[in-house]
Amino acid sequence: MLDFIRNNKRTHFAGKLNKNNVGEKVTLMGWVHRRRDLGGLIFIDLRDVSGIMQIVFKPGIAEVHQKAGRLRNEYVIAIKGKVAARQQENINPNITTGEIEVEVEDLLLLNDSEPLPVQINENILAEEDLRLKYRYLDLRRERLKDIILLRHEIIFAMREFLTNKNFFEIETPILMKSTPEGARDYLVPSRIYKGKFFALPQSPQMYKQLLMIGGFDRYFQIARCFRDEDLRADRQPEFTQLDLEMSFASQDEIFHVIEEMFIYIFRKTINTELKTPFPRLSYSESMERFGIDKPDMRFGMELTSISDILKNTEFKVFSGSLESGGSVRCIVAPGCSGYSRKQIDELTDIARHLGGKGLAFCKVEENDLTSGISKFLSEKESRNILEKTKAKEGDLILFAADTDKMVFKILAEIRNHFGRELKLYDKNEFNFVWITDFPLFEYNEEEKKWETAHHMFTLPKEEHIKYFDNEEDYGKIIGQLYDLVCNGLELSSGSIRCHRLDVQKKIFDVLGFSEEELEEKFGFFLNALRYGTPPHGGIAPGIDRIVMIMSKAESIRDVIAFPKTLQAADLMSKSPSAVAKEQLDELGIAITTKAQRHEEEK
Ligand code: AMO
Ligand code: AMP
Repeated sequence: MLDFIRNNKRTHFAGKLNKNNVGEKVTLMGWVHRRRDLGGLIFIDLRDVSGIMQIVFKPGIAEVHQKAGRLRNEYVIAIKGKVAARQQENINPNITTGEIEVEVEDLLLLNDSEPLPVQINENILAEEDLRLKYRYLDLRRERLKDIILLRHEIIFAMREFLTNKNFFEIETPILMKSTPEGARDYLVPSRIYKGKFFALPQSPQMYKQLLMIGGFDRYFQIARCFRDEDLRADRQPEFTQLDLEMSFASQDEIFHVIEEMFIYIFRKTINTELKTPFPRLSYSESMERFGIDKPDMRFGMELTSISDILKNTEFKVFSGSLESGGSVRCIVAPGCSGYSRKQIDELTDIARHLGGKGLAFCKVEENDLTSGISKFLSEKESRNILEKTKAKEGDLILFAADTDKMVFKILAEIRNHFGRELKLYDKNEFNFVWITDFPLFEYNEEEKKWETAHHMFTLPKEEHIKYFDNEEDYGKIIGQLYDLVCNGLELSSGSIRCHRLDVQKKIFDVLGFSEEELEEKFGFFLNALRYGTPPHGGIAPGIDRIVMIMSKAESIRDVIAFPKTLQAADLMSKSPSAVAKEQLDELGIAITTKAQRHEEEK
């Protein structure tokens, strides 16, 4: 068999042949994708990484024909044969090789296959857990394969573009110091220094800043990041960023490089032209209009604040929220006045799941507000609401009253719900928007402490540095922070960094680090800031999410060759897994009885 491969080089990829090859002798290698045994003629769809080619065995060459009769799905074969045009009635317009077939002259079985535990068929997808267990088989599926190959194209285009813009690709450590960065760290015990740990990077943030201090000017890296956090449809514990950083660059310059890069990769890989510059929206405007800092701007349905209209309302639900400093806002669902009680209850459930107290509604009928809470509104209030929201006959208006934070959370979710439900957007559109001017700090009510909205290395606006003097003003400090959002998904996040040691120290101060803690956790970094740190800034587009958007994948697991489940496990290799006692002894680690119990309960 090896002789065959040595002596018979593959001449073509199956999916790359076309009418121009008619008459040529070819050698192909791949899998039996599908077979039809018509007694006399045996047709096989031969699949390789490039696509599918129909090959045909005629009874004339008896030995080969007989061997072909024994082939089964997913057997691996090599064939030699001649490319022929298909007869008109046999042309398959659905595949690129549909006008031709290969008449086989020689066949070699390279490997057989047991019947597959999951079918390679887009139309009968097995449940995801089973597909993840046999991921290497699921990867043979055309859709998944195409996405993984698109991912390669995208990363290649990124490297090409940035290299041409004088960026250097530099690797940074995977084993690093555990520092509080937002999410929980994945820890790696040290054998040599027993009882001590490395952490896997949540991002190369500090290293890329140290590279700027090191004088490299422009850096990028296809960087693997690790975060032990709650997972969602767009989050994995292990994911990839295009991490980049630039010295002496303003926010505008960073935006420009990123916009040019997106134009380049969209054009090159999916033949799509993007319109730039991407629009910009401040964080506060985004919240006011969409209730969220990652708005899907492919459709309207913006929020309307009606707190002013309702300042004397008699409706307790609304007056209560207003009196305690909250707000009342609403959103208009076009043409939804026919919604049933059940449908409205489902919307209310969305609000309750998010922690809200409810969702009030009215219908617009005969130029007036009817049903729901309309009876609690005065004529003037109704009129003003109609006027301000510009709601029309047949619309449904939904109201939330609570703290601003909760009102935004509820109405943003309701808005996205209607976007999907009413198909308010074009699935083929790519709607990019920059969100800028985020607050630097947020107050964590539960833990009663200030936290950074993004990360602690961001430079505040110069004119806001004075607000550090007074705790009451911390919430007013705007950071030079930005996100790039596409179709409601946060694709990238970045900032202009704090290159000044004095300001960096003020930030750590607000976060409540003691001198010792600071020295222990960030001493090396603060030290570096003393020795001529250039002004710098950067950004990190999430590659998995970019591939999701560009391939229109529903789940982040579809864009990663070997992803983890929502429970952060690998079903294929069954990890995480127990390790031998000797391994633990070497590390000086003992498993507590509590952990053992937890394991047994599972
Ligand atoms: P941030 O934490 O916002 O910023 O991450 C940047 C981008 O990475 C992607 N991302 C994820 N993708 C998949 N799964 C996850 N769990 C996940 N978490 C984040 C998102 C996000 O926009 N060091 C900073 C960047 C900087 O300031 O330069 C950082 O990591 O697309
Ligand atoms: P209740 O008085 O709790 O029965 O609520 C009357 C209506 O107002 C119901 O439709 C609730 O879903 C709605 N509702 C209750 N609390 C709120 C709130 N905070 N914001 C908006 N609607 C609410």
